[in-house]
Amino acid sequence: MGLRIARVQLDPHSDIGARDVAAVTREVDWLGATGDERIFHPLCGPGTYASVIRRSSGCRWYVGHDINASAVRWGRQRNPDRDYVFRTARFGVGTRVPRHDLALLSYEAVNVFAPDELPTILAALADGLAPGGRLFIDVRTPDDPGVPIGVRRSEHVPAGTGIFSTAEHDLDYATQLDCDGRLLVQRFRLRFGHRDEEFFSWLWLYEPDELVALGRAAGLWPSATAHLHPRSVQNTNGANGSVQMLFERSGAAAPRGVPC
Ligand SMILES: C[S@@+](CC[C@H](N)C(=O)[O-])C[C@H]1O[C@@H](n2cnc3c(N)ncnc32)[C@H](O)[C@@H]1O
Repeated sequence: MGLRIARVQLDPHSDIGARDVAAVTREVDWLGATGDERIFHPLCGPGTYASVIRRSSGCRWYVGHDINASAVRWGRQRNPDRDYVFRTARFGVGTRVPRHDLALLSYEAVNVFAPDELPTILAALADGLAPGGRLFIDVRTPDDPGVPIGVRRSEHVPAGTGIFSTAEHDLDYATQLDCDGRLLVQRFRLRFGHRDEEFFSWLWLYEPDELVALGRAAGLWPSATAHLHPRSVQNTNGANGSVQMLFERSGAAAPRGVPC
């Protein structure tokens, strides 16, 4: 399945599973890197960000982590330079963060972490950032989760074309928000005729103000906010509702703790 997900992520014109190349280019341009940064990119996907950085500003080095070994293989293949390193690794609470100048929490990466673990994640990234270093966050917000909420019409998936299975099946896709509108759950039900299989994924939708407060608590100061991506029409899992934020590591670490 990892291989099939990575193939979907590689589509340069789709936002399904990974940002499309035009969106990545807009984000990298907005970051205005000097080329001297050491870049840490947890949840890096199949190396699209690295490719765009390599062809624009460049960097001192880039380290990407992804839990999907197929995405990591693509990342290496697309970025064969010695200074671009990809690791199959789960990023989370307790992961060792290398000393770096720019951290990328790109497409949905911050939304993967629940509010009980995000403060620890931000603190670890802040600890790894050199003074004056920057953290980029692309966040999905409660205003517009980026996917239509409800049940979508069943889709027939011919053999060899599905993401979750190579066998022929029907795919029922549904999304739901919790009563506070903060937890987005996606359900993928595969119907094979004699049996069904279900997969769920979830994203926590954060308000930009909440991220500002969590960032400050970790010693990260907000320096810019943007809406870089126009509403996406070519697929349902588009760029709608996402906000891009940039934080700077202050010289002295602020006291830790979740602000009220
Ligand atoms: C929505 S995709 C975005 C990828 C990348 N930001 C892009 O747009 O090209 C999220 C990626 O994070 C990976 N992932 C999810 N949870 C992870 C974790 N805890 N640690 C490392 N990788 C993870 C997935 O395998 C997937 O490739």
